[in-house]
Amino acid sequence: MKVLINDKIVDREEASIDIEDRGYQFGDGVYEVVRLYNGQFFTFDEHIDRLYASAAKIDLVIPYPKDILKNLLKQLASENNIHTGNVYLQVTRGIQIPRNHVIPDDLPLEGVLTATAREVPRNEALFVTGGKAITDEDVRWLRCDIKSISLLGNIMSKNKAHREGALEAILHRGDTITECSASNVFIIKDGVLWTHSADNLILNGITRQVIIKAAGKGGIPVREANFTVSDLLAADEVFISSTTLEVTPITTVDDTVIGTGLRGPVTQKVHELFEAEIVAECGELLPV
Ligand code: PDD
Repeated sequence: MKVLINDKIVDREEASIDIEDRGYQFGDGVYEVVRLYNGQFFTFDEHIDRLYASAAKIDLVIPYPKDILKNLLKQLASENNIHTGNVYLQVTRGIQIPRNHVIPDDLPLEGVLTATAREVPRNEALFVTGGKAITDEDVRWLRCDIKSISLLGNIMSKNKAHREGALEAILHRGDTITECSASNVFIIKDGVLWTHSADNLILNGITRQVIIKAAGKGGIPVREANFTVSDLLAADEVFISSTTLEVTPITTVDDTVIGTGLRGPVTQKVHELFEAEIVAECGELLPV
């Protein structure tokens, strides 16, 4: 397997990171996960733009212009022969010796870019059957709009879900549902799609944005407005979205069965509209 480290593509075994990298010591960095279909990046510009936006919000300078970064990632995907898969990339603030919380302003640090590319088929069965979610208090910081590599809060919730045999943890701050540990959440009530507004309390998922646009085109009304835990439990349908999960139905939340307990018609329609966006950008989705 080939990986990217700064502007070099090398064998995975050859890549090494300094133990005094601020990403390693402080979780000081940002990341993206981008999906490929038919060897083509989906919503590539949107992900790259969000990476640079996340970096700008923490005053981190990405060491390459966008077009160079995109070319490096394309090369990485091609050297790993990715057809349907994920590219994970992160940029940390770089090496600082000795460890110091303060970011030096007299000595600019070189950001460290790393990326991996893996073949990961679409989980079509999951997209139909969906799964269970738990609810969990959202204990993360108040800048969830930044796609930071510091993910302890997310990890604790995801692992709690995993231990309880659930796919995801749907997070709430007090009574308000925000998002999930690694995805966004939508509910459907009386034919209307609801999801938390894109503010500092959620990551504005690229999948979320594509869904909102595609639903609009498909005549499904969308409300980007807050809803409560009770609204979630009383929803007709619930689904979660992310680059890897696309549109995945949630059929049980804690002990409450949602709607009929099966993927609902609006969720199915939303997924079809989402797939049409993939096809328009990356070509037909044929079984691999
Ligand atoms: N997670 N919210 C959170 C907290 C996330 O971690 C993610 C994605 C999303 C959905 O964003 P997008 O649609 O752009 O993938 C929302 C990625 C996939 C991950 O950490 O693996």
